[in-house]
Amino acid sequence: MVGGGQLARMTHEAGIPLGIRFKLLSDTPQDSAAQVVGDVVVGDYRDLDTLRAFARGCDVITFDHEHVPTEHLRALEADGIPVRPGPDALLYAQDKGEMRAKLSGLGVPCPRHRIVADAADVVAFAAEGSCDGDGFPVILKTVRGGYDGKGVWFVRSAAEAADPFKAGVPVLAEEKVDFVRELAANVVRSPHGQAVAYPVVESQQVDGVCDTVIAPAPELDEALAGEAQELALRIAQELGVVGHLAVELFETRDGRILVNELAMRPHNSGHWTMDGAITSQFANHVRAVLDLPLGDPRPRAPWTVMCNVLGGDYPDMYSAYLHCMARDPQLKIHMYGKDVKPGRKVGHVNTYGDDLDDVLDRARHAAGYLKGTITE
Ligand SMILES: Nc1ncnc2c1ncn2[C@@H]1O[C@H](COP(=O)(O)OP(=O)(O)OP(=O)(O)O)[C@@H](O)[C@H]1O
Ligand SMILES: [Mg+2]
Repeated sequence: MVGGGQLARMTHEAGIPLGIRFKLLSDTPQDSAAQVVGDVVVGDYRDLDTLRAFARGCDVITFDHEHVPTEHLRALEADGIPVRPGPDALLYAQDKGEMRAKLSGLGVPCPRHRIVADAADVVAFAAEGSCDGDGFPVILKTVRGGYDGKGVWFVRSAAEAADPFKAGVPVLAEEKVDFVRELAANVVRSPHGQAVAYPVVESQQVDGVCDTVIAPAPELDEALAGEAQELALRIAQELGVVGHLAVELFETRDGRILVNELAMRPHNSGHWTMDGAITSQFANHVRAVLDLPLGDPRPRAPWTVMCNVLGGDYPDMYSAYLHCMARDPQLKIHMYGKDVKPGRKVGHVNTYGDDLDDVLDRARHAAGYLKGTITE
């Protein structure tokens, strides 16, 4: 697996019961996954020679992030190393401009969008979406390299439209969708074309970062949920995705769904599956990458809630375990071994049960207590 973050750490964990040998290419020996994987190569995934040397002897390569240059992936394939997901699919998770063009071509519902070259383009794009007023606000996104809301700008005026162009990366403009909530449809697809769909979840972001995920999405219209699952399965098939695909969605006020973006790897909106589904997203990603039959994606409990644990003011989170574990013996804690910095994702908790309010309350309490914003 290329990339040493928490997704690699948890994918490695899912591979242990299968007895597979897991090798990691990590930026540093301190990265979340590098701390726990036995076979670690430290090196730069942007360097083709490093990638080639790492891949030698591997049966298959997969990823913890989408930032490996597309041309390097093609070179690995040309060397005869299976890359899953492959570059032809991964492109649409790497580049938001390519993704919008491809999905629109497939007739997949997306927000109104356009690649823009400068602030004047943004003003014109905004104006076209409005019958009165200037059409602001709009959303601007760098097409590559964004994560956790970095690379996304909420632009309220022409004056604010200049910043995103400073990086010199192409910029995608999108209408600001007036959504009632964000959903995610997660599916896993294997090379021989088997696919499974997890229940559609609600994903709540705070300051552009995922905070809470509720599985399944409460009070989601059954037909719309089915539509979202079918859409994700269709995207996986049309794009030839292998492994886990997260389709981030907006649910609009008039009961439609629009695609926000795609991720082709295990995803934060699927962390609930570690304790809440019969087969976790990580286990199914491993199975798909190895072209093994996929596991049952169905939930184990009526409700599962995942809350991310963000770093707070206390560098030591372990002292909080005593209280959290004693208070809620059903609580599942997953920490990533990262140094605590304010606002940084350092872990997550999962709770599950029959009563949504209770399950939500327990997850939020534990995440807040671990962070230090709740003290009793
Ligand atoms: N067109 C839009 N209209 C309204 N809100 C949007 C739009 N695009 C993005 N957002 C908000 O900004 C958040 C981050 O956007 P996006 O998912 O494109 O960025 P990212 O940084 O790649 O995300 P991630 O956190 O998944 O890595 C979304 O989850 C959503 O809350
Ligand atoms: Mg996103």
